[in-house]
Amino acid sequence: MLPGDVIMKRKRLFISLLIVAFLAIVICAGSNSARVPSEKCGDCHSDSQIYKDWQISDHAMSLKTLLKESGVYQSCLKCHSASYKLSNPWVSRKDLPTPRTASDPVSCSACHRHDSGIESNLIMTSDKLCTTCHILFCGG
Ligand code: HEC
Ligand code: HEC
Ligand code: HEC
Ligand code: HEC
Repeated sequence: MLPGDVIMKRKRLFISLLIVAFLAIVICAGSNSARVPSEKCGDCHSDSQIYKDWQISDHAMSLKTLLKESGVYQSCLKCHSASYKLSNPWVSRKDLPTPRTASDPVSCSACHRHDSGIESNLIMTSDKLCTTCHILFCGG
C-alpha cells in the first residue's frame, strides 16, 4: 500500500471517531431522565403518610417560595428544584430549567431513586443528603 493511502485511512478513521464522540455528547445531553415528578411516585405511594407529609412540607413549596422573591436567578434552582438539581451534567445551559420553566420543587426524586441501593432508596446516605442543600446561607 502507498503511504498516501495509509494517511487517508488514518484521516478517515479520525473523522469517524470525532463524529461518534459528537453524537455521544448530543445523545447524553438529550436524555434527562433522573427526575420524576412527585405525582408519579404518588401513583404507588399516595396512600402513605410520607406523601401527605411531603405535600404540605416546605420542600413541596420550594418553587412557589422562590417565585415570590425578586432577586431570583437560575442558580437558585440548584437547591429549590429537583428538575434542575438532577439535570444531566451534559445538558447545555440554555436547556436547563429556569425559574419560569422549572416544574419540580424539592420533590421525592431530589432524595430518592428506586434502584439506588442505599437504605430507604435514598440517592445518598442521609447524613450527606440534607447538607447538599442545607448550608449556612442559601443566598435567598
Ligand atoms: C434539593 C435540595 C434539598 C435537599 C436535598 C434537602 N432540602 Fe430541606 N429544604 C430545601 C429548600 C429549598 C427548603 C426551603 C423551601 C421553602 O421554604 O420554600 C427546605 C426546607 C426544609 C425544612 C423547613 C425549613 C426549615 O429550615 O425549618 C426542613 C425541616 C428541611 N428542609 C429538612 C430537610 C432534611 C432533614 C433533609 C435531608 C433528609 C433535607 N431537608 C434535604 C432544599 C433541600
Ligand atoms: C428532603 C428529602 C426527602 C424528600 C423530598 C422525600 N423523602 Fe422520603 N425519605 C427521606 C429520608 C431521609 C428517609 C429515611 C428516613 C426516614 O424514614 O425518615 C425517607 C423515607 C422514605 C420512605 C421509607 C419509609 C420507611 O418507612 O422506611 C418512603 C416510602 C419515602 N421516603 C417516600 C417518599 C415519597 C413518595 C416522597 C415524595 C412525596 C418522598 N419520600 C420525599 C427523604 C426524603
Ligand atoms: C409502580 C409503583 C411505584 C412507583 C411509581 C414508585 N414506587 Fe416506590 N416502591 C414501590 C414498591 C412496591 C415498594 C416496596 C418494595 C421495595 O421496598 O422495593 C417501593 C419502595 C420505595 C421506597 C423504599 C421504602 C423502604 O421501606 O425502604 C422508597 C423510598 C420509594 N419507593 C420511593 C419512591 C419514589 C421517590 C418514587 C418516585 C420517584 C417511587 N417510589 C415510585 C412502588 C412504586
Ligand atoms: C445551596 C442551596 C440553596 C440555594 C443555591 C438557594 N437556596 Fe434558598 N433555601 C435553601 C434551603 C435549604 C432553605 C431552607 C432553610 C433555610 O431557610 O435556610 C432555603 C430557603 C429559602 C427561602 C425561604 C426561607 C427564607 O429565608 O425566607 C427563600 C425565600 C429562598 N430560599 C430564596 C432563595 C433564592 C432567591 C435563591 C437564589 C438567589 C436561593 N434561595 C438559593 C437552599 C438554597
